[in-house]
Amino acid sequence: MKLTYHGHACFLIEGKGHSVIIDPFLKDNPLSVVKPEDVKVDYVLVTHGHFDHIADAVEISRRNNAPVIATFELVNYCTEKGATGHPMHIGGSYTFPFGRVKLTIAHHGSTTDAGSAGNPCGFIIEMDGKTVYHAGDTGLFSDMALIGEMNPIDCALLPIGDNFTMGIKDAIKAVELLKPRIAVPMHYDTFDVIKQDPEEFKKGLQGSATEVKILKPGESLEI
Ligand code: NI
Ligand code: MN
Repeated sequence: MKLTYHGHACFLIEGKGHSVIIDPFLKDNPLSVVKPEDVKVDYVLVTHGHFDHIADAVEISRRNNAPVIATFELVNYCTEKGATGHPMHIGGSYTFPFGRVKLTIAHHGSTTDAGSAGNPCGFIIEMDGKTVYHAGDTGLFSDMALIGEMNPIDCALLPIGDNFTMGIKDAIKAVELLKPRIAVPMHYDTFDVIKQDPEEFKKGLQGSATEVKILKPGESLEI
């Protein structure tokens, strides 16, 4: 499985014959090195309705005929804008052609330009025998221990930007609870208010069983 970071909270996951993108924020993200029209995927996963996550989701869904996987409320919003979608909700999982997706809690908000879009979420994605956890925008929560216990995580994608989400100290604690094989920091540096040094996150986990991989936008990792 190949994981590519496209800046902020956006990741492209490519497996054997299938690919999905999570939280595409490309066109208006100055740090992103790809544009929505360059993205070829089968599904679009969106954690919540904030612009820095849903930004290019409808366009990518329409161009690729790729259903949006998100909460019921958010899928309704996307399908009204012309996307296709597969609604789910917290705690539910479903097996798609590419693999299995489960929605987890995330402590955050979820609004769009049309108002409230229900609850935000995170995703557990199982594909080609590997498990990736995208935490979404969230604060630290102790149920991360349960998520890690029930789903041996190969790679955890965790916000470290602080202000809107966990900061570095809480993200280190999240890794201790989740016990992933690899952790990749996200949701930092895009805006001044979330400027962070990801090396500090890496340093804080030195000597732990988790390997921290810091990816620049456009960089990939084989899991
Ligand atoms: Ni948000
Ligand atoms: Mn965000």
